[in-house]
Amino acid sequence: MITYNKRTHIFRLETEHTTYAFRALRGKRAEHLYYGKKCGRILPMPQLPLNYGFSPNDADTDFLHSHDFTFAEYPGYGAGDFRSPAVRILGKSGTGVTDFRFVGHRIYDGRPVLEGLPFPRGTTDCQTLEICLKDSLNGCKAFLSYTVYPAFDIITRSVTLENAGRSAITVEQPASLSFELPGRDYEQITLAGSYHTDRFNLERHPLGQGTHRMISRRGASGHQLNPFFALVSPETEEKTGDVYAFNFVYSGGFTNTVEITPHGATRVQIAADDENFAWLLEKGEKLTLPEAVMLYTNRGLGEMRHQMHAFIDTCILPPLPEGTAPLVLNTWEGTWFSIDEEKLLHYADAAKGTGIDTLVMDDGWFGARIGDDAGLGDWFVNRNKFPEGLAHTVRCVKERGLKFGIWIEPEMVNPDSDLYRAHPEYALTVPGKEPALSRKQLVLDMGNTAVIDYLKKSLSETFAGCDIAYFKWDFNRHICDAYSHVLPAKRQRETKFRFMRGTYALLDWLRKTWPNAILETCSGGGGRYDLGMMVYGHQIWTSDNTNPGDRIRIQSASLLAYPARTMSCHVANGENVCEGNPRTMRFRYAVAAAGALGYEFNLALCSDEVVKTVKAQVAEYKTYAHLMQSGRYDEYLSPFTSPLYAYAYLSDDRREILLTALADKADTGRYTVYPDADERLSYRDTLSGKVYNGKELRRGLTLCPDGKDEWSMMLHLMAV
Ligand code: GLA
Repeated sequence: MITYNKRTHIFRLETEHTTYAFRALRGKRAEHLYYGKKCGRILPMPQLPLNYGFSPNDADTDFLHSHDFTFAEYPGYGAGDFRSPAVRILGKSGTGVTDFRFVGHRIYDGRPVLEGLPFPRGTTDCQTLEICLKDSLNGCKAFLSYTVYPAFDIITRSVTLENAGRSAITVEQPASLSFELPGRDYEQITLAGSYHTDRFNLERHPLGQGTHRMISRRGASGHQLNPFFALVSPETEEKTGDVYAFNFVYSGGFTNTVEITPHGATRVQIAADDENFAWLLEKGEKLTLPEAVMLYTNRGLGEMRHQMHAFIDTCILPPLPEGTAPLVLNTWEGTWFSIDEEKLLHYADAAKGTGIDTLVMDDGWFGARIGDDAGLGDWFVNRNKFPEGLAHTVRCVKERGLKFGIWIEPEMVNPDSDLYRAHPEYALTVPGKEPALSRKQLVLDMGNTAVIDYLKKSLSETFAGCDIAYFKWDFNRHICDAYSHVLPAKRQRETKFRFMRGTYALLDWLRKTWPNAILETCSGGGGRYDLGMMVYGHQIWTSDNTNPGDRIRIQSASLLAYPARTMSCHVANGENVCEGNPRTMRFRYAVAAAGALGYEFNLALCSDEVVKTVKAQVAEYKTYAHLMQSGRYDEYLSPFTSPLYAYAYLSDDRREILLTALADKADTGRYTVYPDADERLSYRDTLSGKVYNGKELRRGLTLCPDGKDEWSMMLHLMAV
């Protein structure tokens, strides 16, 4: 799987279908050679046959050997390579010139533990190559780790930098991944949005010469650009074509760089945070950077999805305590901040007997929280709303046969809170500057251990004696004024990275303190939809946009990079449309059934008809929920290019298929989809009883929307 050829100095990393290779000679720069389809002999890159006169070369080589066009494994800055650096180090020379050379390597079974950061679990067959590079000018060592996950065709990469010199150095925006591909004709696919109810618009575009950066400066991955991106050939489609896909096991800001170089190659880099990120390393200190994930396939976007989903499911997401996702009723859109015990118990009474298993009390239960202007940070129950205390309320909910879930937003504080009044220095605010509010709140300095200790103490005290089955952990603003009151000026540019490490420490503590509770993460819905959060949380609130027409596109785009079971999807009332409108109820359900189903309106105020519909939907959903959780997702018609969205979840053995088609706007087109059924089998639709032959299904199934808004069709096919 990982080999080193002593004669050619070539390292080869092999997955089932791919090869990654580079060459490293002691004292020389590590030279990237190849990444793509599994291949036999790797040849060193040919030198450019022309005299690129302005490109510097080492004294012992000629102009055909410039660092300016050699493919690099971890390029430095200002030492002859004018393309994007993987890192810039400010050391004694004061110049920023950075030049890493190969020192040595080790290969071992398993994978490294990244202290203080989330990382994928290892598999029995994974193996790691660690190479050590040294920048003698600044006395800095870089340990580059490559972990190979053969079955998923995935290689993950992380970097640890160590100050091995005698004086302090500052490392500026170090990358976790850097390499390059020959050729420049890739198109880039990104998931872009603009604000919290608009996320995951799928964009695909060619790239011209120059440096293309996708940056989040928000201290969070954000709704605006997801860390996932892919480079694909122009002809790549669902089932064919080259795909290089990338992701980042990190939830803070990020910088994804794709540089189309002057010599017609494509350099790719992934780094945490933004251009302001810098870290001071005193003598002997180390900094470990988050892990990046990369995958190659020549079998199109469909195969990329299958492999990414399988990897995330197996190695990233925590297993569900009871094997299935909870089916929740959430109070937010039905009650907003005005929740109290009486209302909550009305919800519980109404949900009793519907098959819903968990009642989630959203925002509004703590401190002086009657609106969004007060209370964050004061994690004690509001006694006006819950006179007998939280434990009593939880007991009452449980007596009604439901589990209890609760909303928290630990990283935040309202200026109007006891916490802020007592400890203004716990918030990120720049001395001498009016702090910028967002949703009337400030961000806590999660890098300050006193803040983490306070949160641990208050959350443990508040939830003592309460049987919490589910937490919804929210994060409702982005980070600016990133000044930590416990760091010296020379370390302030570390604040956002330290913030993220503190948040991860608290997430880790929460999971260990309530090991059987489900954790749903959230950031205004979908704002931290990333692999970092997925290491801790079982699922994510997909979007605050619960309009089913918009959700179709948001969910299809989420599924490009992340498995279905990460998506928490609620049937919501929105504009009061589900009262007595069976078609709308059905459509909202058919959209939400793509993920972990839940409901988000005040069931206590609904007619018996609506409650009965909910009960029937829940019963239906439970018959195929396992397919969403562990099945394979195949997309037949994309909602970004077709008025009809059609997809299926298939069991591994293809004996069970859930095929769904959705059109939010009136449409009368005829569409043919080709489910990957087993041609030796016959299937019965458990919903209509109709029998289909596997061969027929493979030859194509014609779908005809009925010309009215909100058309949906679901076939649950079981082999007979
Ligand atoms: C965010 C979440 C919502 C809800 C509110 C509560 O917007 O996305 O689901 O929890 O916060 O304030």
